[in-house]
Amino acid sequence: MSGSTLVESEVCSSTTTLTDLSPINSTTPSTSALISTTNTINSKPVARLNNEALTALLETFKHDPNLHTLPHQSDHIGIFNTLKQRINSINDDTCSPGEENSFFVCDMKELRNLYKNWKVELPRVQPHYAVKCNPQPELLKVLASLGVNFDCASKREIDTILKLGIEPHRIIYANPCKVGSHIRYAQQNGVEMTTFDNAEELHKIKKFHPSAKLFLRIATDDTTAQCRLSTKFGAHLSAIPELLQTVKDLELNLVGVSFHVGSGASDFSSLYKATRDARWVFDIAVNEFGLPPLKTLDVGGGFQLTSFQESSKVLRLSLDEFFPENCGVNIIAEPGRYFAETTLTLATHIIAKRKIDNDQAMIYINDGVYGNLNCILFDHQEPTPRILYSNNKFHYDDFNSTSAVPTPSHPYKVSIWGPTCDGLDCITKEYYMRHDLVVGDWLYFPNLGAYTSSAATPFNGFDQHVDTIIINEDL
Ligand SMILES: Cc1ncc(COP(=O)(O)O)c(C=O)c1O
Repeated sequence: MSGSTLVESEVCSSTTTLTDLSPINSTTPSTSALISTTNTINSKPVARLNNEALTALLETFKHDPNLHTLPHQSDHIGIFNTLKQRINSINDDTCSPGEENSFFVCDMKELRNLYKNWKVELPRVQPHYAVKCNPQPELLKVLASLGVNFDCASKREIDTILKLGIEPHRIIYANPCKVGSHIRYAQQNGVEMTTFDNAEELHKIKKFHPSAKLFLRIATDDTTAQCRLSTKFGAHLSAIPELLQTVKDLELNLVGVSFHVGSGASDFSSLYKATRDARWVFDIAVNEFGLPPLKTLDVGGGFQLTSFQESSKVLRLSLDEFFPENCGVNIIAEPGRYFAETTLTLATHIIAKRKIDNDQAMIYINDGVYGNLNCILFDHQEPTPRILYSNNKFHYDDFNSTSAVPTPSHPYKVSIWGPTCDGLDCITKEYYMRHDLVVGDWLYFPNLGAYTSSAATPFNGFDQHVDTIIINEDL
């Protein structure tokens, strides 16, 4: 890298006082006391790379031939055989209601490979899988057996993990705005680690769980993420001095800083900037507020297989600069999508068809945006439908059985709809098929494990808590 892209510090020349950083609220006694009595904070976060240098560096990563998309290691044959066996066991003419429901296949070989990749790319970072992403018990068990810990958002998620026999110290209750009774539940069940981003939460924690190990969640720049989170969570830098003072006043146990760069993140400069900001919090907590040294940095989620090498490289670079090895700080993360997305495949049944002309039709399937395809609405996903079974033949191994754009080998144009009576329940308005699908055929959606089953509803009376068939459990 050329020396000209480096700067000593982009921001340390400006002097910012605590008064500048604090939200103006003269009616709050703790805030006004804070402004008048605490030390001046005369630095903002300092970094080696300014915005321009960072953008230029990350651009080189995007074009680095050594940073490949990691190979997708699904056991295609195993998945195919499982789909085939299940579908062959269903007789459309005689089956009971629900027997022909959609179903998932969960490939534990893929999950193990993802974990192996994680250890190669981010050996310093201990993952805490975000249970909200997919709380499938078998998936949780395999992750636990690999040594992955857990991020829970609520009492029920904590319960799910504890019921699997996983010790409470392996859980971080990573919801900065918690229900009071759930905090009490965490305290009674030995869950110590939790996040916060506002002073009211600290008062609640003081009341219900005063010994909790606290992570201050900071806001990030997640403007390019598929699902933004910092619009809702995370303290802005200007609010941090007041929060540190409140921690001190309440004699709470601050152990670290957390952030999340947004789910489905794509601009990883946010990882660098968030790590820089976290370093600043670590430093001022000790130097300006006299708190004991913080021990853990939580780098959140936002990872996905397709960009994992790139995001990991940015994170390694950021950690090397701000939290180098042997600096005495543990690094943890809260990945969800990375582990769940490519591990599960969804198979759905074609239940109805409205023919428009010889090569155009509306296809209705038995899962939709109120069921396991809710990710279209809530997670901004665009799932890929592929033909699984049509015209009495299986087509799983034809990875080009469908196309998002018209081509000569995909002459059949369809729109695909879910089973409910709502017009919003549309999977895709336009897709092109190699075969003329009919009622009784099956489609499948690869890579459909993240934020799918966990948010499925029974709207219109369709039970969308469908079977998951596990394969490659004991390799
Ligand atoms: C606090 C928290 N941690 C972790 C995650 C998981 O994020 P991802 O699936 O992008 O890795 C989320 C997602 O919403 C979250 O809110």
